[in-house]
Amino acid sequence: MIKNRILLFITIVFANSCSSSINDISSNERVKLVDIGGSVAQAFQKDLFRHLSEAIGDGGAPNAISVCNLEALEITKAAQRGFPQSLEIKRVSFKFRNAKNAPDKYEAEALNYLATPQKGDAYPINTVQKINFGKETVFRFYKPMRMAEMCLQCHGSDKQISDVVAEKLTELYPNDLAVDYKRGDFRGAIRIQISKEDLLK
Ligand code: HEC
Repeated sequence: MIKNRILLFITIVFANSCSSSINDISSNERVKLVDIGGSVAQAFQKDLFRHLSEAIGDGGAPNAISVCNLEALEITKAAQRGFPQSLEIKRVSFKFRNAKNAPDKYEAEALNYLATPQKGDAYPINTVQKINFGKETVFRFYKPMRMAEMCLQCHGSDKQISDVVAEKLTELYPNDLAVDYKRGDFRGAIRIQISKEDLLK
């Protein structure tokens, strides 16, 4: 009995220390976050585009498969050098190729918001969150990504993806969901996360 109570106690303490919640963000925090997040996300998108185009130019889409990967990009390395230590870049998508890019519950909320047209039919250009994970507070900035023509060689229909590319993709990602996109489709978001200490210093 006592043993059971102790177990219950441990379970409750553990569950609480892992609990998380979303908080209101002040306008000062928002301005700083949009400033850092916006510039990192934009640099990332440019970097991705440039590396993909170069690799496709060099040897076609099969040659570029390893490039559409966060770790392959300069900005990821730059983010580790020039930017605040806690800064983390992730790509999130509901229809993902690599399961590590699947959204957690806050990322899913952000994706739903970004994918929904607002008043006047315009889509949001970004969104931000302040989240407590236990004792730690982090800020997240999200920038939506849409599909360009060039992306469809690896994320489009059967007809747009060559046999060689399809074969490689099936081998590397047997549970691939990131196909059948069309030009202009909402693809997901770039998510920049930064600790409270780093944002407010
Ligand atoms: C040459 C093939 C290729 C092209 C072209 C390509 N991608 Fe990808 N894409 C991939 C591969 C492979 C992955 C999985 C990377 C990984 O393992 O993290 C991926 C992953 C992604 C992800 C992460 C989410 C997920 O599905 O796992 C996003 C977002 C993405 N691509 C967007 C784009 C956009 C936008 C373009 C056009 C600018 C593009 N891709 C062009 C091959 C490609």
